[in-house]
Amino acid sequence: MSPEEMLLDPLRAEMDREEENARHRHGRLTHARPETSAAARDEPAALSREPAASEQAPGPETVPPVRTIVIDREPVPAPPPSERASVRALAGAGPERLRLEEVSINYGAKPAVKSVSLSIHQGEVLALIGPSGCGKTTLLRTLNRLTELTPSAARAGRILLDNEDIHELPDTTLRSRVAMVFQQPNPFPMSIFDNVAFALREQSRKRPRRRELEPLVLDALRRAGLYDEVRDDLDAPALRLSGGQQQRLCIARAIAPRPEVLLMDEPCSALDPISTNTIEKLIGELRLDLAVVVVTHNLAQAQRIADKVAFMYLGDLVEFGSAEQVFGEPRATRTRDYVTGAFG
Ligand SMILES: Nc1ncnc2c1ncn2[C@@H]1O[C@H](COP(=O)(O)OP(=O)(O)O)[C@@H](O)[C@H]1O
Ligand SMILES: [Mg+2]
Repeated sequence: MSPEEMLLDPLRAEMDREEENARHRHGRLTHARPETSAAARDEPAALSREPAASEQAPGPETVPPVRTIVIDREPVPAPPPSERASVRALAGAGPERLRLEEVSINYGAKPAVKSVSLSIHQGEVLALIGPSGCGKTTLLRTLNRLTELTPSAARAGRILLDNEDIHELPDTTLRSRVAMVFQQPNPFPMSIFDNVAFALREQSRKRPRRRELEPLVLDALRRAGLYDEVRDDLDAPALRLSGGQQQRLCIARAIAPRPEVLLMDEPCSALDPISTNTIEKLIGELRLDLAVVVVTHNLAQAQRIADKVAFMYLGDLVEFGSAEQVFGEPRATRTRDYVTGAFG
Protein backbone atom coordinates (compact mmCIF):
# COMPACT_ATOMS: atom_id res chain seq x y z
CA MET A 1 0.00 0.00 0.00
CA SER A 2 1.65 3.21 -1.06
CA PRO A 3 1.76 6.14 1.33
CA GLU A 4 -0.22 8.35 -1.03
CA GLU A 5 -3.09 5.89 -0.92
CA MET A 6 -3.11 6.19 2.84
CA LEU A 7 -3.81 9.87 2.49
CA LEU A 8 -7.39 10.53 1.75
CA ASP A 9 -8.24 14.10 1.02
CA PRO A 10 -11.20 14.95 3.26
CA LEU A 11 -12.37 17.60 0.81
CA ARG A 12 -12.43 15.12 -2.03
CA ALA A 13 -14.30 12.65 0.15
CA GLU A 14 -16.87 15.35 0.84
CA MET A 15 -17.21 16.12 -2.87
CA ASP A 16 -17.60 12.44 -3.63
CA ARG A 17 -20.30 12.23 -1.03
CA GLU A 18 -22.23 15.07 -2.65
CA GLU A 19 -21.83 13.57 -6.10
CA GLU A 20 -22.92 10.21 -4.75
CA ASN A 21 -26.02 11.66 -3.12
CA ALA A 22 -27.02 13.35 -6.33
CA ARG A 23 -26.47 10.20 -8.36
CA HIS A 24 -28.40 7.97 -6.04
CA ARG A 25 -31.46 10.09 -6.07
CA HIS A 26 -31.88 8.38 -9.45
CA GLY A 27 -29.49 5.63 -8.87
CA ARG A 28 -28.75 2.03 -8.57
CA LEU A 29 -26.99 1.85 -5.22
CA THR A 30 -27.69 3.95 -2.21
CA HIS A 31 -24.81 5.85 -0.74
CA ALA A 32 -26.77 8.67 0.70
CA ARG A 33 -24.67 8.97 3.80
CA PRO A 34 -21.34 7.20 3.43
CA GLU A 35 -19.42 7.55 6.67
CA THR A 36 -16.07 7.52 4.91
CA SER A 37 -14.75 6.98 1.41
CA ALA A 38 -14.44 3.58 -0.18
CA ALA A 39 -10.70 3.90 -0.42
CA ALA A 40 -10.69 4.10 3.35
CA ARG A 41 -12.39 0.72 3.46
CA ASP A 42 -9.17 -0.76 2.32
CA GLU A 43 -7.01 1.48 4.44
CA PRO A 44 -6.81 0.63 8.11
CA ALA A 45 -4.36 3.51 8.57
CA ALA A 46 -6.86 5.96 7.16
CA LEU A 47 -9.57 4.48 9.30
CA SER A 48 -7.62 4.85 12.44
CA ARG A 49 -7.56 8.61 11.84
CA GLU A 50 -11.32 8.80 11.72
CA PRO A 51 -13.23 6.13 13.67
CA ALA A 52 -15.86 4.52 11.51
CA ALA A 53 -19.45 5.16 12.37
CA SER A 54 -19.83 1.43 12.76
CA GLU A 55 -17.60 1.61 15.82
CA GLN A 56 -19.84 4.10 17.55
CA ALA A 57 -22.71 2.88 19.66
CA PRO A 58 -25.95 4.10 18.09
CA GLY A 59 -27.58 6.48 20.57
CA PRO A 60 -31.39 6.50 20.64
CA GLU A 61 -31.46 10.21 19.74
CA THR A 62 -29.56 9.54 16.49
CA VAL A 63 -31.60 6.53 15.41
CA PRO A 64 -34.69 7.29 13.36
CA PRO A 65 -37.56 4.80 13.80
CA VAL A 66 -37.52 3.38 10.26
CA ARG A 67 -34.40 2.22 8.47
CA THR A 68 -34.12 1.05 4.91
CA ILE A 69 -31.28 -0.81 3.27
CA VAL A 70 -31.43 -0.78 -0.47
CA ILE A 71 -29.26 -3.13 -2.43
CA ASP A 72 -29.63 -3.95 -6.07
CA ARG A 73 -29.85 -7.72 -5.83
CA GLU A 74 -31.26 -10.27 -3.47
CA PRO A 75 -28.64 -12.17 -1.47
CA VAL A 76 -28.08 -15.64 -2.89
CA PRO A 77 -27.30 -18.25 -0.25
CA ALA A 78 -24.03 -20.14 -0.69
CA PRO A 79 -24.49 -23.79 -1.61
CA PRO A 80 -23.96 -26.18 1.29
CA PRO A 81 -20.46 -27.70 1.43
CA SER A 82 -21.61 -31.02 -0.04
CA GLU A 83 -22.53 -29.26 -3.29
CA ARG A 84 -19.36 -27.23 -3.59
CA ALA A 85 -17.22 -29.87 -5.23
CA SER A 86 -19.35 -29.72 -8.32
CA VAL A 87 -19.41 -25.95 -8.51
CA ARG A 88 -16.31 -25.56 -10.64
CA ALA A 89 -17.70 -27.86 -13.27
CA LEU A 90 -20.80 -25.68 -13.55
CA ALA A 91 -18.95 -22.43 -14.16
CA GLY A 92 -18.78 -21.05 -17.66
CA ALA A 93 -18.36 -17.73 -19.34
CA GLY A 94 -21.18 -15.40 -18.40
CA PRO A 95 -21.79 -11.82 -19.49
CA GLU A 96 -18.90 -9.44 -20.05
CA ARG A 97 -18.38 -7.27 -16.98
CA LEU A 98 -15.23 -5.27 -17.63
CA ARG A 99 -13.73 -4.28 -20.95
CA LEU A 100 -10.31 -2.70 -21.32
CA GLU A 101 -9.61 -0.78 -24.50
CA GLU A 102 -5.98 0.09 -25.16
CA VAL A 103 -5.24 0.88 -21.54
CA SER A 104 -1.80 2.34 -20.90
CA ILE A 105 -0.33 3.54 -17.61
CA ASN A 106 2.84 5.56 -17.18
CA TYR A 107 4.56 6.56 -13.97
CA GLY A 108 6.10 9.86 -15.01
CA ALA A 109 7.83 9.08 -18.29
CA LYS A 110 8.09 5.37 -17.54
CA PRO A 111 5.52 3.06 -19.11
CA ALA A 112 4.20 0.36 -16.76
CA VAL A 113 1.25 -0.94 -18.84
CA LYS A 114 1.25 -0.64 -22.63
CA SER A 115 -1.99 -0.56 -24.59
CA VAL A 116 -3.73 -3.54 -23.00
CA SER A 117 -7.11 -4.62 -24.39
CA LEU A 118 -9.09 -7.52 -22.97
CA SER A 119 -12.48 -8.38 -21.58
CA ILE A 120 -13.41 -9.96 -18.29
CA HIS A 121 -16.52 -12.10 -17.91
CA GLN A 122 -18.67 -13.20 -15.02
CA GLY A 123 -18.25 -16.90 -14.37
CA GLU A 124 -14.53 -16.74 -15.07
CA VAL A 125 -11.32 -16.42 -13.14
CA LEU A 126 -8.74 -14.41 -15.06
CA ALA A 127 -5.19 -14.91 -13.82
CA LEU A 128 -2.72 -12.11 -14.53
CA ILE A 129 0.69 -13.74 -14.64
CA GLY A 130 4.21 -12.59 -15.45
CA PRO A 131 7.50 -11.83 -13.78
CA SER A 132 7.87 -9.19 -11.10
CA GLY A 133 7.69 -5.56 -12.25
CA CYS A 134 5.74 -6.30 -15.43
CA GLY A 135 2.70 -4.17 -14.60
CA LYS A 136 0.26 -6.75 -13.15
CA THR A 137 -0.49 -4.84 -9.96
CA THR A 138 -0.65 -1.54 -11.83
CA LEU A 139 -3.17 -2.96 -14.27
CA LEU A 140 -5.25 -4.53 -11.48
CA ARG A 141 -5.37 -1.34 -9.45
CA THR A 142 -6.34 0.67 -12.48
CA LEU A 143 -9.53 -1.37 -12.71
CA ASN A 144 -10.95 0.29 -9.62
CA ARG A 145 -9.03 3.53 -10.01
CA LEU A 146 -6.55 3.04 -7.20
CA THR A 147 -3.69 3.85 -9.57
CA GLU A 148 -4.91 7.39 -9.92
CA LEU A 149 -4.10 7.98 -6.25
CA THR A 150 -0.43 7.87 -7.32
CA PRO A 151 0.30 11.43 -8.42
CA SER A 152 2.85 10.47 -11.09
CA ALA A 153 0.54 7.93 -12.74
CA ALA A 154 -1.11 8.82 -16.05
CA ARG A 155 -3.62 6.72 -17.93
CA ALA A 156 -4.76 6.40 -21.50
CA GLY A 157 -7.50 4.19 -22.94
CA ARG A 158 -10.94 3.23 -21.71
CA ILE A 159 -12.24 0.83 -19.06
CA LEU A 160 -15.91 -0.06 -19.22
CA LEU A 161 -17.90 -1.69 -16.42
CA ASP A 162 -21.11 -3.09 -17.86
CA ASN A 163 -20.57 -0.72 -20.80
CA GLU A 164 -20.17 2.35 -18.61
CA ASP A 165 -16.85 4.19 -18.40
CA ILE A 166 -15.53 3.65 -14.86
CA HIS A 167 -14.36 7.26 -14.81
CA GLU A 168 -17.96 8.37 -15.01
CA LEU A 169 -18.75 6.60 -11.73
CA PRO A 170 -18.13 8.04 -8.27
CA ASP A 171 -15.15 6.16 -6.86
CA THR A 172 -17.11 4.88 -3.85
CA THR A 173 -19.66 3.29 -6.17
CA LEU A 174 -16.98 1.90 -8.44
CA ARG A 175 -15.06 0.37 -5.55
CA SER A 176 -18.09 -1.44 -4.21
CA ARG A 177 -18.87 -2.76 -7.70
CA VAL A 178 -15.24 -3.62 -8.47
CA ALA A 179 -13.92 -4.72 -5.08
CA MET A 180 -10.30 -5.38 -4.15
CA VAL A 181 -8.59 -7.89 -1.88
CA PHE A 182 -4.95 -7.15 -1.16
CA GLN A 183 -1.90 -9.33 -0.68
CA GLN A 184 -1.72 -8.74 3.06
CA PRO A 185 -5.03 -9.34 4.83
CA ASN A 186 -6.11 -5.93 6.15
CA PRO A 187 -9.14 -6.29 8.44
CA PHE A 188 -10.22 -3.10 10.13
CA PRO A 189 -9.63 -2.83 13.89
CA MET A 190 -13.21 -3.67 14.75
CA SER A 191 -15.34 -6.78 15.22
CA ILE A 192 -15.79 -9.53 12.64
CA PHE A 193 -19.41 -8.45 12.19
CA ASP A 194 -18.57 -4.77 11.77
CA ASN A 195 -15.86 -5.51 9.21
CA VAL A 196 -18.38 -7.17 6.92
CA ALA A 197 -21.15 -4.68 7.76
CA PHE A 198 -18.86 -1.78 6.89
CA ALA A 199 -19.59 -1.49 3.19
CA LEU A 200 -23.26 -2.27 3.71
CA ARG A 201 -23.54 0.58 6.19
CA GLU A 202 -21.81 2.80 3.69
CA GLN A 203 -24.36 1.88 1.07
CA SER A 204 -27.40 2.36 3.19
CA ARG A 205 -29.62 5.42 3.11
CA LYS A 206 -29.73 5.65 6.88
CA ARG A 207 -27.66 3.96 9.50
CA PRO A 208 -29.17 0.46 9.53
CA ARG A 209 -29.80 -1.60 12.62
CA ARG A 210 -27.74 -4.67 13.25
CA ARG A 211 -30.63 -7.06 12.79
CA GLU A 212 -31.30 -5.58 9.35
CA LEU A 213 -27.71 -6.11 8.33
CA GLU A 214 -27.35 -9.51 9.91
CA PRO A 215 -28.71 -11.66 7.07
CA LEU A 216 -26.45 -9.88 4.58
CA VAL A 217 -23.39 -10.13 6.82
CA LEU A 218 -23.99 -13.82 7.51
CA ASP A 219 -24.53 -14.49 3.82
CA ALA A 220 -21.22 -12.81 2.93
CA LEU A 221 -19.44 -14.79 5.64
CA ARG A 222 -20.97 -18.00 4.29
CA ARG A 223 -19.98 -17.21 0.72
CA ALA A 224 -16.46 -16.44 1.92
CA GLY A 225 -16.33 -19.85 3.62
CA LEU A 226 -15.75 -18.35 7.07
CA TYR A 227 -19.16 -18.54 8.72
CA ASP A 228 -18.78 -21.95 10.37
CA GLU A 229 -15.56 -20.85 12.04
CA VAL A 230 -16.84 -17.56 13.45
CA ARG A 231 -20.59 -18.00 13.91
CA ASP A 232 -20.38 -18.06 17.72
CA ASP A 233 -18.00 -15.16 17.96
CA LEU A 234 -19.11 -12.46 15.54
CA ASP A 235 -18.29 -9.71 18.01
CA ALA A 236 -14.70 -10.85 18.52
CA PRO A 237 -12.03 -8.49 17.21
CA ALA A 238 -11.16 -9.35 13.62
CA LEU A 239 -7.46 -8.94 14.35
CA ARG A 240 -7.61 -12.05 16.57
CA LEU A 241 -8.34 -14.29 13.58
CA SER A 242 -5.58 -16.28 11.89
CA GLY A 243 -4.03 -14.95 8.67
CA GLY A 244 -6.10 -17.24 6.47
CA GLN A 245 -9.29 -16.34 8.33
CA GLN A 246 -8.45 -12.65 8.08
CA GLN A 247 -8.07 -12.95 4.33
CA ARG A 248 -11.42 -14.72 4.06
CA LEU A 249 -12.92 -11.96 6.20
CA CYS A 250 -11.50 -9.40 3.76
CA ILE A 251 -13.12 -11.39 0.96
CA ALA A 252 -16.43 -11.38 2.88
CA ARG A 253 -16.13 -7.61 3.33
CA ALA A 254 -15.40 -7.16 -0.37
CA ILE A 255 -18.28 -9.34 -1.59
CA ALA A 256 -20.92 -8.16 0.90
CA PRO A 257 -22.10 -5.32 -1.36
CA ARG A 258 -22.44 -7.82 -4.23
CA PRO A 259 -19.73 -6.50 -6.56
CA GLU A 260 -19.67 -7.45 -10.24
CA VAL A 261 -15.90 -7.89 -10.19
CA LEU A 262 -13.50 -9.06 -7.49
CA LEU A 263 -9.85 -8.08 -7.87
CA MET A 264 -7.22 -10.00 -5.91
CA ASP A 265 -3.53 -9.12 -5.86
CA GLU A 266 -1.54 -12.21 -4.86
CA PRO A 267 -4.19 -13.04 -2.25
CA CYS A 268 -2.46 -16.17 -0.97
CA SER A 269 1.17 -15.14 -0.99
CA ALA A 270 1.12 -14.30 2.72
CA LEU A 271 -0.74 -17.50 3.65
CA ASP A 272 0.08 -21.08 4.62
CA PRO A 273 -0.70 -23.92 2.17
CA ILE A 274 -3.92 -24.98 3.92
CA SER A 275 -5.36 -21.47 3.88
CA THR A 276 -4.19 -21.10 0.29
CA ASN A 277 -6.07 -24.22 -0.66
CA THR A 278 -9.22 -22.96 1.08
CA ILE A 279 -9.03 -19.63 -0.73
CA GLU A 280 -8.34 -21.23 -4.11
CA LYS A 281 -11.49 -23.34 -3.72
CA LEU A 282 -13.40 -20.28 -2.68
CA ILE A 283 -12.28 -18.38 -5.79
CA GLY A 284 -13.71 -21.19 -7.91
CA GLU A 285 -17.07 -20.83 -6.18
CA LEU A 286 -17.20 -17.05 -6.13
CA ARG A 287 -16.82 -16.76 -9.86
CA LEU A 288 -20.34 -18.11 -10.35
CA ASP A 289 -21.66 -14.75 -9.16
CA LEU A 290 -18.97 -12.38 -10.37
CA ALA A 291 -15.87 -11.96 -12.46
CA VAL A 292 -12.62 -12.65 -10.60
CA VAL A 293 -9.23 -11.23 -11.57
CA VAL A 294 -6.29 -12.68 -9.65
CA VAL A 295 -2.70 -11.53 -9.91
CA THR A 296 -0.36 -14.38 -9.15
CA HIS A 297 3.25 -15.13 -9.82
CA ASN A 298 2.57 -18.70 -8.77
CA LEU A 299 2.15 -20.62 -12.03
CA ALA A 300 0.87 -23.74 -10.32
CA GLN A 301 -1.81 -21.66 -8.65
CA ALA A 302 -2.77 -20.05 -11.97
CA GLN A 303 -3.11 -23.53 -13.45
CA ARG A 304 -5.32 -24.63 -10.58
CA ILE A 305 -7.69 -21.68 -10.53
CA ALA A 306 -7.70 -19.85 -13.86
CA ASP A 307 -10.18 -20.11 -16.71
CA LYS A 308 -8.41 -17.37 -18.66
CA VAL A 309 -4.80 -16.26 -18.45
CA ALA A 310 -3.19 -12.95 -19.36
CA PHE A 311 0.61 -13.08 -19.56
CA MET A 312 2.30 -9.72 -19.10
CA TYR A 313 5.90 -8.94 -19.83
CA LEU A 314 7.44 -5.49 -19.35
CA GLY A 315 4.05 -3.82 -19.55
CA ASP A 316 2.91 -5.65 -22.69
CA LEU A 317 0.06 -8.10 -22.77
CA VAL A 318 1.97 -10.81 -24.59
CA GLU A 319 -0.73 -13.44 -24.58
CA PHE A 320 -4.36 -13.70 -23.51
CA GLY A 321 -6.41 -16.84 -23.84
CA SER A 322 -7.94 -19.81 -22.08
CA ALA A 323 -5.80 -21.37 -19.38
CA GLU A 324 -5.70 -24.53 -21.46
CA GLN A 325 -4.34 -22.71 -24.47
CA VAL A 326 -1.84 -20.43 -22.68
CA PHE A 327 -0.38 -23.27 -20.62
CA GLY A 328 -0.80 -26.04 -23.19
CA GLU A 329 -0.15 -24.36 -26.52
CA PRO A 330 1.32 -20.92 -25.96
CA ARG A 331 1.47 -18.88 -29.16
CA ALA A 332 4.38 -16.58 -28.23
CA THR A 333 7.88 -17.89 -27.60
CA ARG A 334 8.14 -15.60 -24.59
CA THR A 335 4.99 -17.13 -23.07
CA ARG A 336 6.29 -20.64 -23.70
CA ASP A 337 9.57 -19.79 -22.01
CA TYR A 338 7.76 -18.30 -19.02
CA VAL A 339 5.22 -21.08 -18.49
CA THR A 340 7.89 -23.75 -18.85
CA GLY A 341 9.99 -22.01 -16.22
CA ALA A 342 12.83 -20.87 -18.50
CA PHE A 343 12.73 -17.49 -16.74
CA GLY A 344 10.71 -15.83 -14.02
N1 LIG B 1 3.88 4.02 -7.42
C1 LIG B 1 4.78 3.82 -8.39
N2 LIG B 1 5.58 4.82 -8.81
C2 LIG B 1 6.49 4.63 -9.79
N3 LIG B 1 6.69 3.46 -10.42
C3 LIG B 1 5.93 2.43 -10.03
C4 LIG B 1 4.93 2.53 -9.00
N4 LIG B 1 4.34 1.33 -8.85
C5 LIG B 1 4.92 0.49 -9.73
N5 LIG B 1 5.88 1.14 -10.45
C6 LIG B 1 6.70 0.58 -11.51
O1 LIG B 1 5.83 0.09 -12.53
C7 LIG B 1 6.30 -1.15 -13.02
C8 LIG B 1 5.23 -2.21 -12.85
O2 LIG B 1 5.07 -2.46 -11.45
P1 LIG B 1 3.92 -3.40 -10.88
O3 LIG B 1 2.65 -3.01 -11.50
O4 LIG B 1 4.01 -3.35 -9.40
O5 LIG B 1 4.38 -4.82 -11.44
P2 LIG B 1 4.07 -6.31 -10.94
O6 LIG B 1 2.83 -6.29 -10.13
O7 LIG B 1 3.96 -7.08 -12.21
O8 LIG B 1 5.25 -6.75 -10.13
C9 LIG B 1 7.58 -1.48 -12.28
O9 LIG B 1 8.67 -1.04 -13.07
C10 LIG B 1 7.48 -0.65 -11.02
O10 LIG B 1 8.74 -0.27 -10.57
MG1 LIG C 1 2.56 -6.90 -8.12
